[in-house]
Amino acid sequence: MRVGGQHFRTIWLADDGWRVCIIDQRYLPHQWVVAQLEQVQHAVDAIRDMQVRGAPLIGATAAYGLCLALHHDASDNSLRNACAQLKAARPTAVNLAWAVDRLSAQLSTFPADDRCERAYALAAGLCDDDVRTNRALGEQGLSLIARHAARLPEGRAINILTHCNAGWLATVDWGTALAPIFLAHRAGIKMHVWVDETRPRNQGALTAWELEQQSIAHTYIVDNAGGHLMQRGLVDLCITGTDRVTRNGDVCNKIGTYLKALAARDNSIPFYVALPSSTIDWQLGNGLDDVPIETRGDEEVTRVRGLDHDGKLSDICVTGRAVPVRNDAFDVTPARLITAFITERGVCAASEAGLRSLFPETVAVPA
Ligand code: MRU
Repeated sequence: MRVGGQHFRTIWLADDGWRVCIIDQRYLPHQWVVAQLEQVQHAVDAIRDMQVRGAPLIGATAAYGLCLALHHDASDNSLRNACAQLKAARPTAVNLAWAVDRLSAQLSTFPADDRCERAYALAAGLCDDDVRTNRALGEQGLSLIARHAARLPEGRAINILTHCNAGWLATVDWGTALAPIFLAHRAGIKMHVWVDETRPRNQGALTAWELEQQSIAHTYIVDNAGGHLMQRGLVDLCITGTDRVTRNGDVCNKIGTYLKALAARDNSIPFYVALPSSTIDWQLGNGLDDVPIETRGDEEVTRVRGLDHDGKLSDICVTGRAVPVRNDAFDVTPARLITAFITERGVCAASEAGLRSLFPETVAVPA
């Protein structure tokens, strides 16, 4: 994506060819900070502390985390430990385990002497695949947006609501939910995006920043506004990303997604979920019972980060000091509330049959 006229991916190698550069997203949209990772522990910290975030990007960061581990020590033991550390960094997004398992299965077949070079090649390949995949699902979503837009009165912008940040910043490039929106904008479709703020971490501010960079009309709203806007005919469709889709089509995504899907259903508004196939967990058959939901620190809820009156980045407390907090980072939207999935291979029903129709090569898992 272009930022200030220059093309960036969210993760890349430094000029020395082995250190890994990331955009530290904790400072966006206020400050552009690039951090360098030199050890596997840096990659683990970057994922856990959300310097990088979004399911596909944490998978890509984990892939480079393995490279960093092998750069220092390419033994079996080092590979095993790095895999375990990286997979434990965040539990919900399946792309993390997917990337680690995919690379480690291949790397363990090579002698230690070869592993580091192979790891960098595999990580680069995984990142390129992510970019291609997201662009492809963006094309599929563009056709879908175009079809909805064609039904609107001449000249009326299509209103799309999104939750969290499933944009370029959540992937290596393009994004998932935002990829169709970027492409629809390029195709000249008149659009306006409702951006949920997405408390507690306000990933909506990242989405608004991305849309602003691409000059796409948008409005930032509080999380509770979506249902109200839907009742008034101000939302034509919703598109979100996801951190894990179970094989029956249940969607785990940022907390609050379920409520938007409920409100969309009550108002007969299509609710689409955009995902690369790396986000499908074919092992799990029931989202509500089976997907591990990450719980995060109380301070994410009791405090907010932003610029103060002097333009200085600061954290302030918004609650009484000792207030009890619960901070589940994700929720599960049952498949029955989802109109369709947008994937790199096409649009399908949110069901096992729908997913298998697009990905028939997937090994059958006994029910
Ligand atoms: O906690 P985060 O910011 O990593 O959560 C991100 C989301 O929930 C996104 O919607 C999801 O990863 C899909 S993004 C391509």
